[in-house]
Amino acid sequence: MTSKIVVTGGLGFIGSHVVVELQNEGFEVVVIDNLSNSSKDVLKGITEITGIEPIFEEFDLRDKFSLSDFFKRNSDVTGVIHFAASKAVGESVQLPLLYYENNLASLVYLLKELEQLKEANFIFSSSCTVYGQADELPITEAAPTKVAESPYGNTKQIGEEIIRDTAKVSKVLNAIALRYFNPIGAHESANIGELPIGTPQNLVPYITQIAIGLREQLSVFGDDYPTNDGTCIRDYIHVVDLAKAHVAALKRLLEKKNTENYEVFNIGTGKGSSVLEVINAFEEVSNQKLNYKIVGRRAGDITAAYADTTKANEVLDWKSELNLQDALLSAWNWEQKIRQI
Ligand code: UD1
Repeated sequence: MTSKIVVTGGLGFIGSHVVVELQNEGFEVVVIDNLSNSSKDVLKGITEITGIEPIFEEFDLRDKFSLSDFFKRNSDVTGVIHFAASKAVGESVQLPLLYYENNLASLVYLLKELEQLKEANFIFSSSCTVYGQADELPITEAAPTKVAESPYGNTKQIGEEIIRDTAKVSKVLNAIALRYFNPIGAHESANIGELPIGTPQNLVPYITQIAIGLREQLSVFGDDYPTNDGTCIRDYIHVVDLAKAHVAALKRLLEKKNTENYEVFNIGTGKGSSVLEVINAFEEVSNQKLNYKIVGRRAGDITAAYADTTKANEVLDWKSELNLQDALLSAWNWEQKIRQI
């Protein structure tokens, strides 16, 4: 019997890549998305890759009535991978209540519905942002969480706590939180990828938009950090590797291999790259020269973060297979494809 898996936010950047990997593994996928930061065209991209169009339901998870109705019609769901959330750090500072409502109220409503299922295997989209600037690198799951820099970051921390507390007493809920480092790249087919609305806030989509001629110049935020070249260090992980980590985590729960009813894993490559290294690598794989200048530091940025992936490697039997160059090339191919039209 195939397992029916719900992916909330399944038309977004990471969600869509996870839908593809789930379908590749034979899961039946139902996508819930409110299209607030995505488009129905993503369904076409997914179908082109896998040959299977996922079932799609358009509604907002804050709409309790639609959510409850959905689970009445889908009581055979065995797993939920939850992405639906707002993710712009700067916007969250301006609109905290929007973020707390959208990211946390919807999580509570969702978890309440899951209590009606026979078994609820739940994967939560968390972030390395919960560690802030960790005292030790690479960062293990045992590193303490730090006071969040933004309401967005806080929703990830509180979200994890809500799930942990619920799993502790629930008879049906088993959950895994995946703390992603910096997801980048696109599917190698260039049928799905990242679609930032407006000016990209993140490094790689900004870079590809410069290379394609949509933007003039990249501002490198600070070259006076205590790192090899003075720019910040991050652990950039290919979104397809990240998507596969979700399938590994889900299988762990479905096969009842989890040792706790709430577990946490870092998902990264384990390798840190500086902003200048990313720029150089992009120039190399794309044969494009990037126009950039060094400017002041960005508020809230940390110096360096990269994952200790031992736990994910050993317990989930997952490890990243693609490198920075692969990821940057896929992001570049995607950018070129979407601007052709
Ligand atoms: C950001 C968020 C983080 C979130 C993650 C999701 C902030 C402060 N942090 O992480 O909470 O979980 O995205 O993907 O927004 N950079 C430039 N110029 C640019 C853009 C970025 O130099 O135009 C540098 C940044 O200073 C940083 C690196 O590139 O050193 C990566 O930045 P970004 O892609 O925004 O990711 P994070 O800041 O790590």
